[in-house]
Amino acid sequence: MMEWTDRHFRYLARQLSRHTLLYTEMVTTGALLHGDAARFLRYDQSEHPLALQLGGSAPAELAACARLAEQAGYDEVNLNVGCPSDRVQNNMIGACLMGHPALVADCVKAMRDAVSIDVTVKHRIGINGRDSYAELCDFVGQVAEAGCRSFTVHARIAILEGLSPKQNREVPPLRYEVAAQLKRDFPALEIILNGGIKTLEECAAHLATFDGVMVGREAYQNTYLLAEVDQRLFGSAAPVRTRSQALQAMRPYVEAHLAEGGSLHHITRHVLGLAQGFPGARRFRQLLSVDVHRTDQPLALFDQAIELLDGR
Ligand SMILES: Cc1cc2nc3c(=O)[nH]c(=O)nc-3n(C[C@H](O)[C@H](O)[C@H](O)COP(=O)(O)O)c2cc1C
Repeated sequence: MMEWTDRHFRYLARQLSRHTLLYTEMVTTGALLHGDAARFLRYDQSEHPLALQLGGSAPAELAACARLAEQAGYDEVNLNVGCPSDRVQNNMIGACLMGHPALVADCVKAMRDAVSIDVTVKHRIGINGRDSYAELCDFVGQVAEAGCRSFTVHARIAILEGLSPKQNREVPPLRYEVAAQLKRDFPALEIILNGGIKTLEECAAHLATFDGVMVGREAYQNTYLLAEVDQRLFGSAAPVRTRSQALQAMRPYVEAHLAEGGSLHHITRHVLGLAQGFPGARRFRQLLSVDVHRTDQPLALFDQAIELLDGR
């Protein structure tokens, strides 16, 4: 998720769940090929399993980016066919590509030919003007034919004119039954459900139908949700980490980031999603979102935040 799932958030998420597949923010092919690729590709080894999400629609460029992802050690490269922003539509990136299944198939084929890591696609169940089930099957069918085995389905359509990206995550109704039908009609494909999932109970229930679930906003805004994923969904016997254990485990990472001249805020802005539902949560948020900008003792402030968690 743009602005949200940068490497610092992913590092935090990894402190809470060892097994969840994590995704980068979407990186456009233009940014990767003509910008600071090392910065976009940077991650910590502990973040595996990790997918790089690409935005683009030129097969040769996507192939080149997939190669960069593979060389950098990513486990998967995912093509974004779900983002509805105007900015990306003008560059033929994101959800508008649902109207061009043959092009998406060409993109997937070029990426698959270039790398041996998984090439996956994240998409909507349609776009305005192209939202019938037959058209969705045509899209998935063509892209599967090109070699994509795994589809992450954000189970609502995108409306490409007149709605903001935020509204496009809220206004078009969720239609899980459409994604479920897709799984029935393409049983050999991995179909991962996305959209509106908020609890591990819901995840477990959807896993009876789907091969996987993707949780976006809730995982960011209520990050501690991730703490029991390994135990409840992956069958791990490891003890559930407390918030303070997770932050304590991040201390060397924070120290290293500060030592290379980074600001504590780069990391702690992503820690605010841990601050729900315990006494002192307000003070914790204030410390990490306000005081953090004033302190000249960032590590001490981070330790203070851990203390406020009081073992929770
Ligand atoms: C701030 C923000 C940024 C997002 N950026 C991306 C992105 O870069 N790539 C993508 O595939 N989806 C992106 N999304 C959409 C989410 O991945 C997800 O599909 C959507 O929020 C629905 O799932 P949820 O209800 O679990 O959040 C973004 C969502 C938010 C809130």
